[in-house]
Amino acid sequence: MNNEVFVHRLLEWYPLNKRDLPWRNTHNPYIIWLSEIILQQTRVAQGLPYFENFLKNYPNVNELANAPSEEVMRLWQGLGYYSRARNLHQCAKDIVEKYNGDFPNNYKDLLKLKGVGSYTAAAIASFAFEEKVAVVDGNVFRVLSRYFGIATDIAGGAGKKEFENLANKIIPHDNPGEYNQAIMEFGALQCVPKNPDCENCPLKSGCFAHNNQMVENLPVKIKKLKIKDRHFQYYYIICGNDLIIKKRGEGDIWQGLYDFPMEESDKKFPSDPDNFQWIKDLKGFVTSIVNDSENTYKHILTHQRIFANFVKINLNDGFRQELKNWADRKGFQLVSEDNFENLAKPKLISRFLNDEK
Ligand code: ADE
Repeated sequence: MNNEVFVHRLLEWYPLNKRDLPWRNTHNPYIIWLSEIILQQTRVAQGLPYFENFLKNYPNVNELANAPSEEVMRLWQGLGYYSRARNLHQCAKDIVEKYNGDFPNNYKDLLKLKGVGSYTAAAIASFAFEEKVAVVDGNVFRVLSRYFGIATDIAGGAGKKEFENLANKIIPHDNPGEYNQAIMEFGALQCVPKNPDCENCPLKSGCFAHNNQMVENLPVKIKKLKIKDRHFQYYYIICGNDLIIKKRGEGDIWQGLYDFPMEESDKKFPSDPDNFQWIKDLKGFVTSIVNDSENTYKHILTHQRIFANFVKINLNDGFRQELKNWADRKGFQLVSEDNFENLAKPKLISRFLNDEK
C-alpha cells in the first residue's frame, strides 16, 4: 500500500469512528491550544471536565490572562505537573501583551510561545489554520512504526526526528488538520498499545507489523528513567480552626502550591515523634500529637515516588499569637481551614485532608 492509500483509508475511517469531542469542529486557536495543553497532561476522559471548567471560567484568552494565578492553579489542581499551569497562564498573558490577543497563525511563531513544543505548535497550526505540518505524539509514533515497520527507539532524539520526517512526508495538502486528527484518533481507538483488533483494521493489508507478527514489538521504546524515592514527613499543625501551611518554592515539584511544614529524607522517618524537629520547636504549646506513621501516602510522579507521613499536632488555642509569630519567622502562614480549602494544593495533600474529614 502506498502513502496515498494510507492517508485515504485514515480519512475514510475518521468521520465514521471519531469521538465527538468539544475541541473538534472548531478553528478557534484558543480552544485548541487549551485542549492540547490539558491533554498533554491526562487522558481525554479525565481531561474533559478540566477543559470544560477552564472554558467556562475563561471563555477567551483575555479572561485567562487577567485571571489571578491562584485561581488558575486551583482549576488545574489534580492534573499534576504544575509548571504546565504556570506556562499556560504566562502564555495567555503573552498572547494578550505581545500579540494583541491573537494567537500566531503559523507553526514557527506558535513554537515561540511558552509551554508550546513541536507537538502542540503542529496541532494548533494544522487544526486552527490548516497548515501542513504533522503532529507526532505517542499515537502517531505507534501507527507509523507499526505500519511502516520502523524499529528506531521513539524515546531518543534521532527516533523523534525520523518519525517527524516521515510524518511530514505523508501529510496531505488537502485537509492536513483533519488528517492529523485522524491518525491520532486511529492510534487512540484502533491501533492501541495492547491487543489491537488487527482483524478489523482498514490498514491491515499494508501494515508491516501485522504482516510480520510484530504488532506487540512496535514501537520500540527504551526506558532510561531513573526513579528517585523521597520521604516526606509532614507536620499538620492545628490551633483551633486554623492551621499552618507553606507555599512551595522554586526548583522542586509543586511550585506555588500549598502544603505543610515538612522534613525530607531519602529514607523512611523514625516513628518516634520526639525525634521530629518541629515538635521540639513547639514544645509548651502542644496539647496532643497523633503520629500515624503506619499510614503512608504514596504518590507517583514520572521521575519520583513520594512517600508521605503526617504527624498531627494540636496546639493550645491560647497560643495563637505566639504561633503566628513563629510561623512568620519560619516563612509559614497561619490560615483558617476554610481559607486553605480555596488554595491550590498537591493532590497528595487533598487526599490526606479528605481522609481527615
Ligand atoms: N490527545 C491529544 N490531543 C488530542 C485531541 N485533539 N483529540 C483527542 N485526543 C487528544
